[in-house]
Amino acid sequence: MEPSDLIWMNGDFVAWDEAKVHVLTHGLHYGTGVFEGIRAYETDRGTAIFRHTEHLDRLAKSAELYYMPMPFGREELRAATHELITRNDLQSCYIRPLVFRGYGTMGLFPLDATVDVAIAVWEWGAYLGDEGKRAGIRAKVSSWRRIGPDSLIPHSKASGQYLNSVLAKIESQKAGYEEAILLDHLGHVCEGSGENIFVVTGGEIITPPQTASILDGISRRSVMRIAADLGHTVVERDIARAELYLADEVFLCGTAAELVPVREIDDHAIGTGEPGPITRAVQVVYEDALYGRDPRYADWLDVVGVPSTTS
Ligand SMILES: Cc1ncc(COP(=O)(O)O)c(C=O)c1O
Repeated sequence: MEPSDLIWMNGDFVAWDEAKVHVLTHGLHYGTGVFEGIRAYETDRGTAIFRHTEHLDRLAKSAELYYMPMPFGREELRAATHELITRNDLQSCYIRPLVFRGYGTMGLFPLDATVDVAIAVWEWGAYLGDEGKRAGIRAKVSSWRRIGPDSLIPHSKASGQYLNSVLAKIESQKAGYEEAILLDHLGHVCEGSGENIFVVTGGEIITPPQTASILDGISRRSVMRIAADLGHTVVERDIARAELYLADEVFLCGTAAELVPVREIDDHAIGTGEPGPITRAVQVVYEDALYGRDPRYADWLDVVGVPSTTS
């Protein structure tokens, strides 16, 4: 992580090293926070935040699901993010808004605790590496199941829930793989530790449905639209573990990782063992969309410094 100059905290711009919380912050103890992972890219129109509105909407929904009133509206957070990127003089960056229960109340009943908001931005390369995006990665089906809707809320991007991804990630890395693929509580394929998953079989693109405990990924939605625009059939249905091994192509997508082909799962080569043609075709258009090179997806970009058209 590359530190930048300023962080936004509860309405103020503070120096990176001064962006501190008390050790008795509620969210630090009980995971009572929700967050987003967003990226801004350097485009011909200037620095542009990919699907900013959708990310801020999901942040509000994640907070709502945990009974956290948002102290700032979507437009305030949008404007703060624009100013933060400008003041940090960044042309491209990762953006991390965090809404969390703050200092002053301990114990499990959180509704009397304050709700604090911070936004950090910093330069961050592709999460699974540029080589992973090019040549594909090796993944392992995790022994840890993805959190189920009967104990937590897969639709919420909540801090505490990420202990599940952390365990899966540690397991896969210690076993020598680059990423973990988690099954849902029923044993169907769910997603990567921080990415949604797509399987290509017989020319059809398949991805697990909302009911399979996935995070409702914004990259996932973008990929589904791009694949359909390329003329592919995209089906949301449960996927059996064996279908992963027998697939022609598999790829992951998420904001941090972007679109990453999977070339091997549990030591089974996927297809030819190299990124397949459908994965490549979708990846090219997806990258064009991120960098503002495809006019079909121009409205997915929130150009820094340009006033909102929705307010
Ligand atoms: C568990 C999990 N699933 C899926 C995703 C992909 O979501 P998005 O495309 O909105 O980044 C992420 C990343 O935020 C994630 O953490």
